[in-house]
Amino acid sequence: MTRRKLLAGNWKMYKTVAEARQFAEQLGRRSTDLAAVSDYAVCPPFTALQTLRVILPTAVALGAQNVHPEANGAYTGEISVAMLAELGVSYVIVGHSERRALFDEGDEFVAQKVASVLQAGLIPILCVGENQAQRERGQAFEVVARQTQAALADVAGDALAGLVIAYEPVWAIGSGHTPTPVDAQQVISHIRSVVADSKGAAGAVSVRILYGGSVKPTNIDDFTHQPDIDGALVGGASLAADSFADMALAMNGRVRG
Ligand code: PGA
Repeated sequence: MTRRKLLAGNWKMYKTVAEARQFAEQLGRRSTDLAAVSDYAVCPPFTALQTLRVILPTAVALGAQNVHPEANGAYTGEISVAMLAELGVSYVIVGHSERRALFDEGDEFVAQKVASVLQAGLIPILCVGENQAQRERGQAFEVVARQTQAALADVAGDALAGLVIAYEPVWAIGSGHTPTPVDAQQVISHIRSVVADSKGAAGAVSVRILYGGSVKPTNIDDFTHQPDIDGALVGGASLAADSFADMALAMNGRVRG
């Protein structure tokens, strides 16, 4: 089975609405570099979703960086899946390591979010990955297996085609350091085997698994040409439209014309 590659930008807490608008206009001028063989998404702060929905190139889908699992309620400051769906959001990042570490989000809460995103017909981008200490102790496989199993506990095997997993080693995020592409391939292949063991082979073959952590135009294709790596989740290098378009070209094996 061929899985479509996905390039997803995670803007984190960067860009005002005016800056987001500028990005969309610049990316629009490079829209021929966003080949239809792959999928693209940007995940801006909530405040820029409405504007980007109107002005992003049509090849680029909209994503959110977080969501609350409940449909509504007394949760000051939170956003529900229905609110995101109404704004044309297709993807929702769930369980990013910054949310796990800085906002104390545990595996169970992450699992609730995955379930509610899937239930609404949106696509979760479930982030998993070991931190530096865990890597040094040789626990990368064990950590990603635990996070993946926990987050997918209530997900049926046939729902996996609508799911994206991103392997993001915490020590690689924003650091300029990456695992080797072969190393990332091995961990991602392990994640796929964990999914196969718990959800069945068909689901494991269809789930898309991205690599994330210090991806940029000059290294993206080293990762995305590995057999089990179906694209990239990119922070810093997704903030500039030219860099985003250059990564799209490189991921698709093309050069700028
Ligand atoms: P980075 O961030 O590309 O800036 O390392 C990746 C992420 O946090 O998703």
